[in-house]
Amino acid sequence: MKLIDGNAIAESIIAELTAEVSQLSVKKPVVAFIRIGEDPASVSYVRKKEKTAERIGIGSRLYLLAEDVNKEELFAQIDALNNDPDVNGILIQAPLPKHIDETETFNRVLPSKDVDGFNTLNIGKLCQEDHQGFVACTPAGIVELIERSGIETVGKHVVVLGRSQIVGKPAALLMMRKALPGNATVTVCHSHTKDLPSITRQADVLIAAIGRANFVTGDMVKEGVAVIDVGINRVEDSAKKRGYRLVGDVEFEAVAPKSSHITPVPGGVGPMTVAMLMRNTLRAFKAAKVT
Ligand code: GUN
Repeated sequence: MKLIDGNAIAESIIAELTAEVSQLSVKKPVVAFIRIGEDPASVSYVRKKEKTAERIGIGSRLYLLAEDVNKEELFAQIDALNNDPDVNGILIQAPLPKHIDETETFNRVLPSKDVDGFNTLNIGKLCQEDHQGFVACTPAGIVELIERSGIETVGKHVVVLGRSQIVGKPAALLMMRKALPGNATVTVCHSHTKDLPSITRQADVLIAAIGRANFVTGDMVKEGVAVIDVGINRVEDSAKKRGYRLVGDVEFEAVAPKSSHITPVPGGVGPMTVAMLMRNTLRAFKAAKVT
């Protein structure tokens, strides 16, 4: 079993990006974060993104909006950032409050600044295998982990658990594309899937992104499976000072011994999401300069 060290892989990408940013002339890339409300996970994710940007030499700006912000105020903020030539990337941290439509909001961001890869044009480009578009950061990070760990996908059966817009759907598209890593046979499972274990047991590569703690148990995988665990679930743990610990969607202790490769939680996919956001921001900056 090979433990995939997402922290180490993310650090090597961050080092590559830092070197590239240091070569830029006076002007540096800038990413703007919009965070709505005080969801503790969102607070911690945005803070991590700000810190990583700073390490690389990417500028960041943080805009905090109240949980009850109305659509007009939110869209005015997005429009201001769309029109600001100093801002290269815009990220609106999800989940959004229930009264705000996510698709409409993500589509308000200019496609050229959509470093999250969430708007309809960029998702369409992913579908059409137009590599000029932005790919969402978590699925892009999954691809990078698979590639840099030497996991084969060509002709393999990749099973994706979860069909979210942010992870499951784009991850499935990436695995089936005519490029590397890709060219896999892909099955997407979700809450209506019948006899899920009979499908997960066929997986050569299992991507678990359903957001349920320890959902994938040892009897649900075959020997030699490569496992990418996207889940970041908080479970109560009175032994921890903060009162909880983070676990993935996969029961690590039971699944790891059967796996060829497996990502830990934390320290697997999580750091890659942040690294991919930085890569997308640098790309947006470079594209803005030439046009
Ligand atoms: N919430 C969880 N993951 C993400 C992400 O990649 N981008 C944004 N904007 N929100 C998220």
